[in-house]
Amino acid sequence: MLLENKVAFITGAGRGIGREIALKMASEGANIVIADIAEDTMQAAKKDIEALGVKAFAVRTDISDEQSVKGAVQAVTETFGKIDILVNNAAIFKRAPFLEMTGDMWDFTSNINLKGIFHVTHAVASLMAENKQGVIISISSVDAFQGCRDYSHYATTKAGVVGLSRTLAQELGPYNIRVNVIAPGIMLTDMTRDRVEANKEAYLAKVPIGRIGVPEDIANAALFLASDLSSYITGQVIHVNGGMYFC
Ligand SMILES: NC(=O)c1ccc[n+]([C@@H]2O[C@H](COP(=O)([O-])OP(=O)(O)OC[C@H]3O[C@@H](n4cnc5c(N)ncnc54)[C@H](O)[C@@H]3O)[C@@H](O)[C@H]2O)c1
Repeated sequence: MLLENKVAFITGAGRGIGREIALKMASEGANIVIADIAEDTMQAAKKDIEALGVKAFAVRTDISDEQSVKGAVQAVTETFGKIDILVNNAAIFKRAPFLEMTGDMWDFTSNINLKGIFHVTHAVASLMAENKQGVIISISSVDAFQGCRDYSHYATTKAGVVGLSRTLAQELGPYNIRVNVIAPGIMLTDMTRDRVEANKEAYLAKVPIGRIGVPEDIANAALFLASDLSSYITGQVIHVNGGMYFC
């Protein structure tokens, strides 16, 4: 087992990629914290994780709300006493062509996708620094590197995640905390289902591997980055996109 007795705090683990990362880490022995804003999906995920023989703790968290995040991290500390792995996965993806973008639309996405990562990482990294160990994985996107028409706020937050992570790899390395990024390409989840179905042939033409990604592709990379198999890797971006970035 690669993650026996580790505690993994995963935002947005109620569904999609976050849920798959949670199941993958649980199957390798990690106890899982599901930190999601949506209570209904959290309970189903908790049941499926517990069926793998580990502990699961579901805590409703709005990552854009500093107090909500602090409360969640406090509750986890009381339950497990530590957090070994943080996966910053939760994000939103709302269409807004730039000329129609308002400041409120920009802030709404930014407060979840980027400032939310600041809130969670700040609270969890403090705990990790005290314990002198930790792994932080943040989910960016291919859109950080190639842009995303009609989603400038989203692409900007996803690029911000890379800058933050490269900086934190330097600041937190001395505390034995590794910080890395996964940049998925186009994956089939509830977030993208309509878009993928409407543009499937166009997407496939851009993916040398010849298929749309699935959440397990990301979960496999997250498992590698969370485990000691990657103990000398920090400040890096792993592109999991079937080669899409190069087309
Ligand atoms: N699906 C793709 O094609 C794709 C591609 C590139 C990157 N990504 C990234 O992968 C990650 C997961 O995407 P997904 O496709 O699984 O999305 P999803 O919409 O299926 O899941 C996102 C989860 O985050 C939760 N969430 C949303 N706002 C929250 C908040 N304020 N606080 C706490 N939780 C919140 C949702 O409730 C949901 O459970 C995201 O960071 C996304 O940007 C996805």
